[in-house]
Parts: sequence; structure tokens; C-alpha cells
Amino acid sequence: MDKFQSLLKQSELCLESMIALVRVFASFIPVTSSYRNKCQIAKSLSLLSYAIRPLHDLKISGDKLNEIENEFSPPGLDVQSAENTCREYVESRNLLFSPVLEFKYCLEKISKECNDLVYERIKWSVDSSLLKLNELMDYATSEQITPEFGVNTADVLFLKQTSPETPSREFPSNQNKLNLPAQTITLGSNFINLEIPTIECCASILNEFIFDVKNTTLLLEICIQIDEERRHAEILRAEFETRGGKIEELSFHLRFWMMSRDEDLATRLYIHQKLGEWIGIDAAMFTVKDKSNEAVIREIYSSILLDEIDHVSLGNKWIRRLTPDLNLVKEKALSKRKRFNETDEGPLKFKLNEMMCRFSGFSIEEINAFRKRQEEYGVIVR
Ligand SMILES: [Fe+2]
Ligand SMILES: [Fe+2]
Repeated sequence: MDKFQSLLKQSELCLESMIALVRVFASFIPVTSSYRNKCQIAKSLSLLSYAIRPLHDLKISGDKLNEIENEFSPPGLDVQSAENTCREYVESRNLLFSPVLEFKYCLEKISKECNDLVYERIKWSVDSSLLKLNELMDYATSEQITPEFGVNTADVLFLKQTSPETPSREFPSNQNKLNLPAQTITLGSNFINLEIPTIECCASILNEFIFDVKNTTLLLEICIQIDEERRHAEILRAEFETRGGKIEELSFHLRFWMMSRDEDLATRLYIHQKLGEWIGIDAAMFTVKDKSNEAVIREIYSSILLDEIDHVSLGNKWIRRLTPDLNLVKEKALSKRKRFNETDEGPLKFKLNEMMCRFSGFSIEEINAFRKRQEEYGVIVR
């Protein structure tokens, strides 16, 4: 059994380092100014998270097996080593992926030793992680993304375990009125003011909070969300550009980033996932249901809508798990949103959709409160 335990231990060390690497990847997202780079790093992050999943499952099974009271808590990533890894990133993609190569090497070693039925479970988990790491390597070395893959050296200097005060932007905000149809402007605005900021806010969660085996599931769910927001961003950008829009001509705000900054994890989830993205669901639904919209627009927002339901439900689920005092978190979130002119009192922005609220994990009491608000104050967008 000693060999079994030692293989489990080695897999666990890989898991620990891979979780730390998620933080490094996540820290790049707000500091890099190129929107394409933000999206590419988001993609890498999600591939890395898929490699983490089997190892995490293995760790859970191993712990159950050993009937160990779980007090696993990896040390935070050393800032110096994060900065070193970051410099390597700038020098070359291959160097960026040297930690990944290291995991691959370790996992291959573990896999080779699992040549017995006894070790089959370990081998399966390790090989699944390896498969995903291979995808990650392929993605990183793919010719298609070569020209823009990399991080601005000046941005890198800001890398710390804390996120920057404001995220970097490729171009200054353009205050001139765009000579484009309103619907095209909305596509661009959703790209720059919703999807990109959400990728950044999620990345700041991964960068600023400590993740370990007890909350790896949350880390994995946030990584999935980041990848889905990345997909939304890319779809919206492509459609905006197809219709003649130019990213550099868009105006933007940094409200979402500023709103979440310095808050605890549950409050951030309340501000963004639970309330912000809930309004996003209704807004997307509004566009989908409006038959006067073009089919392509309705399809885009239908596909986004499905993901957004998961994001709100992620928020609702984890806020409950993370906080013993839901009212306190609610109070903090509402007052912070108010400071940024996002009101959660008075009329509802969109007509209440109880089914969507239930899908998104709102409690019966919360839905009743929404209904009461609607009866009392009405709805803004009709
Ligand atoms: Fe989104
Ligand atoms: Fe979302």
C-alpha cells in the first residue's frame, strides 16, 4: 500500500501546483491590455482547469479512502515565483508552459508506475489530466494564435497577487457618437462593457482568494464561467466587426471592476453573479423574445442566455455556502451597487420571469420579494 499512497501524494502535489498556476494565469487577464490576449489566457485557464478536475476527484476519493479529516490548505503562491513565471511568459510561450511540461512529466511518471489493477483509479485520473494538458500545450503552440499570443512587458510589471486598481484597456474610451445602427453598437457595448469586465472580475477572484481542496469546485466553476464569457466576448466581437464596428471606437466604463474591488468573495458574487448577471439574463431574454430582431441576433443572445443562467446559479449557490449571514452580504452588495448607480430598489428593470429565477437558484422568498417590487413600482423596460 505504500506505493499506492506515494502515487496519491505525488498526484496531490501536482494538483496543488496546478491550482497555484491557475492564479498566475488569472493574474494576467486584467493586466494585459489586448482583448484577444485576455480571451486567449481565459481559454488556457479553462483547459488547465479541465486538467485539474480529474486530479481533484482523485484527491477526494483518496481522502475518503484514508478517512482523513480534511485540513488540506496549500500555501499561497510566492509572489517572486509568480513574477518569474510571468517573465518567462513574456519571453516565450514555450517557457510559459514550462510548469505545464513539468506537470506532464510528473504525471507521465506516475502513470507509468500504475501498471497494476490496484492503481487503475490513479492511472485514469492522471491520464485524463495528461490529456487535457496536451490540449493546453497544443492550444498554446497553435500557429493560428501565434501573432498575438503574449503579454505586454509593461503590463507585466504590475503583476502582484493583488489585482491592479483598474484593468488595462487596449484603446482609450471613445466619447464620440458612433455612426452605426443601435443594434450594432449594443453588440460592441456588450462585448466591452459586459463580457470582458466579467472575465476580468472572475479572474480577480481566482487571483485574490486562496483556493484549496475544500473550494476547488468553486475554482473549477469560475474557470468554466470565464471560458463561457470568453466565448460570448468572441461571438459579440465577431458580429460587431462583421457589421462594420471597430473595437477602438467603442466607449467603455470600468464600473463592474470598481464595484467588486476590495469586497469579500460572497459580496462579489452577490454584486456580480447574483444581481448583475440576473439583469443580464432578463436583458438577453428581452432581445430573444423580440421578434422584430434579426434571427442571427436572437440566436446569439439565446446561446448567451443559457450560460448566464448557470452563472447566476453559481452565484446563488456559493453565496449560501460561503456566508453564514446572507442579510449582511446582501446589504453590503446593495449599498455598493447603489454607489455605482446600479439600483436594486423601486421598479424592476425587466418584467419578472419567475421560471428563470427558479432556474437561476433564487429562493421562493427572493422571488416573492421581486414580485412585490414589481406590483408596487412596476417595470422600467417594457
Ligand atoms: Fe456572458
Ligand atoms: Fe455571465
